[in-house]
Amino acid sequence: MCGIVGYTGAREALPVLLEGLRRLEYRGYDSSGVVLRNGTGLVVERAPGKLGALVGRLKAAPLKGSTGLGHTRWATHGGVNEANAHPHRSCDGRIALVHNGIVENYAELRRELKGHRFASETDTEVLAHLIELYYEENGRVHPLRAVTQALDRVRGSFALGVIYADQPDLLIAARVNCPLVLGVGDGENFMASDVAALLPYTRRIIPLEEGEVAKIDLQGVSIFDRKFNRRRRRPTEVAWKAETALKGGYPHFMLKEIHEQRETVASELQGREKALDNLRLPRDVARVTIVACGTAWHAGLVAKAAIEELARVPVEVGFASELRYGDTPLGRDVLTIAISQSGETADTLAALRLAREAGSPTLAITNVKGSTLSREADQVLFMRAGLEMGVAATKTYTSQILCALLTALHLGRRRGALTGERFEALLREARKLPAQVEKVLEGEAAVKKCARKFSRGYDYMYIGRRYNLATAYEGALKMKEISYLHAEGYGAGEMKHGPLALVDRNLTCVAIAPQGRTTEKMISNIQEIRARGGRVISVATAGDRLVRSVSDHVIEIPACEEMFSPILAAIPLQLLAYHTAAALGRDVDQPRNLAKSVTVE
Ligand code: G6P
Repeated sequence: MCGIVGYTGAREALPVLLEGLRRLEYRGYDSSGVVLRNGTGLVVERAPGKLGALVGRLKAAPLKGSTGLGHTRWATHGGVNEANAHPHRSCDGRIALVHNGIVENYAELRRELKGHRFASETDTEVLAHLIELYYEENGRVHPLRAVTQALDRVRGSFALGVIYADQPDLLIAARVNCPLVLGVGDGENFMASDVAALLPYTRRIIPLEEGEVAKIDLQGVSIFDRKFNRRRRRPTEVAWKAETALKGGYPHFMLKEIHEQRETVASELQGREKALDNLRLPRDVARVTIVACGTAWHAGLVAKAAIEELARVPVEVGFASELRYGDTPLGRDVLTIAISQSGETADTLAALRLAREAGSPTLAITNVKGSTLSREADQVLFMRAGLEMGVAATKTYTSQILCALLTALHLGRRRGALTGERFEALLREARKLPAQVEKVLEGEAAVKKCARKFSRGYDYMYIGRRYNLATAYEGALKMKEISYLHAEGYGAGEMKHGPLALVDRNLTCVAIAPQGRTTEKMISNIQEIRARGGRVISVATAGDRLVRSVSDHVIEIPACEEMFSPILAAIPLQLLAYHTAAALGRDVDQPRNLAKSVTVE
């Protein structure tokens, strides 16, 4: 969702801001804008649509200045147009700001701000006027204080960047419930929604914490709590490579990231033992509750199957957005596992906080060091997927699954439900995965052909059972989010209870049927669909003649332990969705209406 980037230093700010925004594009947005301090005034350019529209306008009339802010907006309040795009300004145009989040009480504040002229329909604009009010009312108080006074009046979530015409080289940053990081350079300093924007300039990062405000100028960054107590924090060095934010010869980030799975799966497995042994997984829990959203929720379903099999403890997997408003009993005897690639998803964070308040021990599985989730959970298992730029999660999904499976294995050992031999045998199987992923990726050309052959249909139904029920949901999600074709994921055994009525020649069914406890059941389900005229693409274990004999098309994956098959089966389905969407000319990396990191409810 919305992306923020800010710069102050000796360079021309505009190229830094535009490069930063380009690197934040992946978060999802529908308009963009920049503000620069030019001499003694603020100059603004904004444009609805993709970043190219803004760049086009700036080429015609470049903005000068060495301090500025940039923003990509994902509309919440007010349509997608230039007036609603950020930055927003005070009445006199001498204060400008960019915002990620929602001001919940904006209507009431707007009524209060009598005499102020509003130029947009957004919730954000009230912040510019409130800051103006406090800045002027108090006879030019410190610009930081004007921001905190304004924030004291506001309910909601926000990451904020503010610039003043009469404050050379200064930016103010603030954070409540939305991510914001500061970047520390030499004689130049930065802020951004995430590190991706800053990688070409600095790797020295300080994530702002809840409720903090910061002053960013040429000398450095100073962080304060809302009572103006100084918070001293050292920057951490991020290891991500700047090139991970580039396409490296691939037409889309998504395709690059699908191919990166041969490395990410390997790095999830290397030298993991210590981190896993160090996890204080509670032995005597009565239940495990997994909270997550989107693709991470699907990884949670795989985790459920594995934890129940290996650790013999009941698991529920809740949509974080439901759990946070439900009555699920949580307490000391319930282990809560929150899975989130970004570690910033608003609903997942809220569910984690609820669990903590109830006394439940919490474990986070996340890809981002310094993310809110990683700071708030009792314990963290970091994924090693590297930066993911495509909105549709691919490599982070298989990383999440692998982290969850390793956690299940260790929980099984801790609870004495899994013998040492079986534990070792499963680890040996896991170590085969990188080579098996490689094999699956070698089959890309065949999947591409299959995508072409079946894209004439108008409906996709993905079916699976047990470990691969999650794969059915995930395969369908990938297809719908990037190709915009209708696709459903369903439990294969549930087809007779309704969805079978949809089956005809126009329905393409994708059956995930690798070798495992339910393969025979899957074969019966496939036959029921074929008998009604549906066409079936099956994902099957290499050499499985039975599945082949009942399918229109087979995508093979190497033989593996059933619990690892969701990793191998997900990859061809990512490729199927990718090649279908690419053939349809869709915006694969930034599908319409979607955001990579959902930081508002
Ligand atoms: C968005 C993304 C999905 C992701 C979900 C949860 O919807 O587009 O790819 O699965 O958020 O994100 P998280 O960062 O919590 O894993």
